[in-house]
Amino acid sequence: MKIAVLGSGGWGTALALVLLENGHDVTLWSYTAEESAVLRETGENPMLKGVPLPKELKLTSDLECVKGCGAVVLATPSFAVRTTARAAAPLLDPGAVLVSVSKGIEKDTSLTLTDAIEQEVGDAHAIVALSGPSHAEEVGRHIPTVVVSASKDRSAAEQVQDLFMNERFRVYASDDVVGVELGAALKNVIALCAGISDGMGYGDNTKAALMTRGLTEIARLGVAMGGRRETFAGLSGVGDLIVTCTSMHSRNRRCGILIGKGTPTDQAVKEIGAVVEGYYAAANARTLAQKVGVEMPITEAAYQVLYEGKDPHGVILDLMTRERKHELEDSWV
Ligand SMILES: NC(=O)c1ccc[n+]([C@@H]2O[C@H](COP(=O)([O-])OP(=O)(O)OC[C@H]3O[C@@H](n4cnc5c(N)ncnc54)[C@H](O)[C@@H]3O)[C@@H](O)[C@H]2O)c1
Repeated sequence: MKIAVLGSGGWGTALALVLLENGHDVTLWSYTAEESAVLRETGENPMLKGVPLPKELKLTSDLECVKGCGAVVLATPSFAVRTTARAAAPLLDPGAVLVSVSKGIEKDTSLTLTDAIEQEVGDAHAIVALSGPSHAEEVGRHIPTVVVSASKDRSAAEQVQDLFMNERFRVYASDDVVGVELGAALKNVIALCAGISDGMGYGDNTKAALMTRGLTEIARLGVAMGGRRETFAGLSGVGDLIVTCTSMHSRNRRCGILIGKGTPTDQAVKEIGAVVEGYYAAANARTLAQKVGVEMPITEAAYQVLYEGKDPHGVILDLMTRERKHELEDSWV
């Protein structure tokens, strides 16, 4: 199949390579001509060092590349997903499936990214979210990876499953697109917190607590938004949370470590050099939680550190000294 991948960061490039290996005719679109020229001239992506780009991978910065494609993968940072979908919309073939692989919640609208895409391309196109525990650096090195393809449209979810699946890249299908997308977006906030905790010199106990209670509040918001609770125990929930909170590949965790060691947030975000989705997600998730009326104390704490400059030590103390609670909200009802 002819497929375009829009966004030539680490993730777009790694996925373009998976599709190419699966025998598809793949074009990787870069946001700027300069970025595309670097890929062409060096034969690799600076975000994915040591992974050669085969000659068969077409490289362009011309959005006309989506014409004639059966599938179009959107792999930009979350803040650029809507504008990229809008620009591509008039060029899409009628039956083209859109695959969102970015992780975030849209600022201002609080929409999931597939909902933002749908607003731009209309309901004539099936839209699928592909997500799960997957570092681009590892997919690029053919390390076995398992993700989930989620859509309201079963045949589209299964079509995307078939496009990507191979012996090193396994894909499950799911109908819970809201649950999959919210798990993916919100775990980046918890990864930043886990990094901050590590940077402050706190231990495994604190990180495990942040991950566990973080997942509880992610699921609380996700269920309120119509997601299924089991999805948060799945690949795009606890799976992605584990990979993001424990790995040095995670730019969210690395950014958190810098902040925990005392680097000002804006400097830490800049130092990482690639998009730190958890930074944006902390503000966008907080807004969504307030709209829906769901309590998210760790996300709120992350917001206070990232946007209000509060000292993480004080914020952790506040979390530790909240009023006593039941672990399960429906205990003894
Ligand atoms: N890197 C990973 O391992 C990984 C894994 C799964 C999901 N993701 C998600 O995929 C998305 C992209 O991540 P990445 O790691 O490839 O990011 P990246 O920072 O490596 O690259 C982002 C790309 O987007 C382009 N871009 C910047 N501004 C743009 C704009 N206004 N319009 C269009 N394109 C623009 C940049 O030129 C760059 O090529 C993120 O939402 C991320 O959370 C990343």
